[in-house]
Amino acid sequence: MEEFAEIKVEGKSVKLPVITGTENEKAIDIAKLRSETGYITLDYGYKNTGATQSSITYLDGENGILRYRGYSIEELAEKSNFLEVAYLLIYGALPTASELANFEKSLAADINVDERVKNLLAAFPSKAHPMAVLSAAIGALSTFEVDSQNPNRSKEEVLKTIISLTAKMPTLSAWAYKNFNGEACVNPKVGLGYIENFIYMMFGKDADPVIVDAINKLLILHADHEQNCSTSTVRIVGSSNANLFSSISAGVSALWGPLHGGANQAVIEMLEAIRDSGTPLSVWIDKAKDKNDPFRLMGFGHRVYKSFDPRATIIKKAADDVLEKLGIQDPLIDIAKQLEQVALSDEYFKARNLYPNVDFYSGIIYKALGIPTEMFTVMFALGRLPGWIAQWKEMTENKEPIGRPRQVYTGANNRPYVAISNR
Ligand code: SDX
Repeated sequence: MEEFAEIKVEGKSVKLPVITGTENEKAIDIAKLRSETGYITLDYGYKNTGATQSSITYLDGENGILRYRGYSIEELAEKSNFLEVAYLLIYGALPTASELANFEKSLAADINVDERVKNLLAAFPSKAHPMAVLSAAIGALSTFEVDSQNPNRSKEEVLKTIISLTAKMPTLSAWAYKNFNGEACVNPKVGLGYIENFIYMMFGKDADPVIVDAINKLLILHADHEQNCSTSTVRIVGSSNANLFSSISAGVSALWGPLHGGANQAVIEMLEAIRDSGTPLSVWIDKAKDKNDPFRLMGFGHRVYKSFDPRATIIKKAADDVLEKLGIQDPLIDIAKQLEQVALSDEYFKARNLYPNVDFYSGIIYKALGIPTEMFTVMFALGRLPGWIAQWKEMTENKEPIGRPRQVYTGANNRPYVAISNR
């Protein structure tokens, strides 16, 4: 039976349909609200506003649940691998052995990036942040694959672009790092695996299985997260019928922000500042609570998770495992754990449901793997790519309308122009 919500404004009553999802989430469809009442809704940061209906990722912030296409991230992180999860997110089902083999073969065949992209990277100043370089390089790909710009692109052309970008992402990510370091870009090596080739192009060496396993798990945990800031960016850019490369390039830029994916770099910088300051943790906790102090506890808090971020739980354990396997003693993880304990017993953090999020411990693993801080958010982007692609693909297949939010105007009312001599 159809459910309705009733809104009364200025004595007029409007019944609006209620949408119920497969996990019994409820929404009020306000498509008719403005035409029937003249009113719009206002919701800064879309904290209570749904932009779409999606079958890709389900998360329950109150109970710390995260599933990709119905499979829990705990199981996927433990039993699956990143390319299988990428296939699951993009195509909607776990692949058979032959489907996965064909997917991997298609990626391996498309891994090479046009040599002229190296000239684009060479134009950047040295130490150019890899996220700026990655965003530019991905956007540039559409100029080398001009069919991708066709607004009436066929399903086959879309799938070709999806394979091309997924295949080239490790190469572009590694090249962004080499450019940052002032080193020559290394081409991928035929026959290496997806993660192994990334490590080869970054460090010029064969990958330690401990490192491959850790990166594989981290990429799975970052692969999608429903309508977060960068995914919403990818969707809204794609809703103008922009091509996949442009849409993902925009998503990379959104992810770079320190309130979003850039937090993993900010966490390490924060822990290093705490370590080098020699001041007690309580001083930093007080700074984070002080409204007059811009300092925030990076890696803490989340728009949706009002209990633990299930990814943080897995990453925290993985950090201990990696450090132990690699025989690394990193004082930063001890500071992170102490900070977590102090914060979680503090009323300010408890009252606001501020827990460690996905970014709090991930940087410690990346650091242990020898990945430089400036590359941490690139690692996030490498993991998030299949999620961005899946969300863009779903939005275009569903022919969703161009995203164009409304506003409430608060500026000057109509007034006549005043000649400069009279101002
Ligand atoms: C990611 O959305 C996603 O799914 C994102 C992500 C993904 O996978 O795509 O999960 C990845 O972006 C994780 C978040 C990484 N960012 C950080 O770690 C940066 C630090 N965190 C905060 O900036 C903040 O918690 C946000 C941005 C993550 C969430 O901000 P909200 O939801 O807008 O909440 P808010 O800023 O309104 O905070 C509510 C209260 C405020 O205090 P009051 O005004 O109520 O007194 O909590 C306080 C905030 O000041 N607060 C913090 C805090 N985070 C929130 N206080 C101190 N330190 C913090 N980290």
